[in-house]
Amino acid sequence: MNKGLLVALEGVDGAGKTTQSKAIVRWLKKNGYAAKYTSEPTSVGAGKLLSKPGFTASPALEALLFAADRIGHVKRVIEPGLRKGYVIVSDRYTYSSIAYQGVILGDVEWVRTINKFAPKPDVAFLLDVEPRLALSRIKRPRSRFEKLGLLEAVRKIYLDMVAAGELIVVDGTKPPKQVTEELLAKLRPFLPNPRCR
Ligand code: TMP
Repeated sequence: MNKGLLVALEGVDGAGKTTQSKAIVRWLKKNGYAAKYTSEPTSVGAGKLLSKPGFTASPALEALLFAADRIGHVKRVIEPGLRKGYVIVSDRYTYSSIAYQGVILGDVEWVRTINKFAPKPDVAFLLDVEPRLALSRIKRPRSRFEKLGLLEAVRKIYLDMVAAGELIVVDGTKPPKQVTEELLAKLRPFLPNPRCR
């Protein structure tokens, strides 16, 4: 039985997911929760390969590699953490594949299928920022996906998932502290009592 809580943060490149995921974990720890920050793609195996500068693969292979990396992440980090009662905050999760690889491949359903072994998070947020603004925040380009047209299509899929009730939307354009407060206000109803492990 899982005792912990799995939280996912999603958004286009430059939306502020990493800053916000880390801020949530800091708050959780300060308030008595066992909490852990983790991110995808991971830094091992398929994730390491996907993050290599200059790495390219056909879109279908890339989608499979993201899914393979996620299975490793679940087995290595997420499931053991949940079993120990941790609140695991994942900076990107399955929804990133659905949105990014869904757009690139034009087949969201297949991307969902190859990710069906990843457990559904207890709560997943979309940090919503218009791609033009999000891209303007990026100081050093890091990802081959940081392109306006692509990110606009990615955002549309994210917003479809909000409409379908899969993601909870938070306005990521507000000052960072305010965004953290809004995220925490929406997260609180899902949190168990602290120190009850
Ligand atoms: P990051 O900048 O959040 O580390 O993510 C690296 C890039 O990988 C980012 O542009 C989004 C992309 N990505 C996917 O396309 N599919 C995925 O499943 C994941 C986890 C990331």
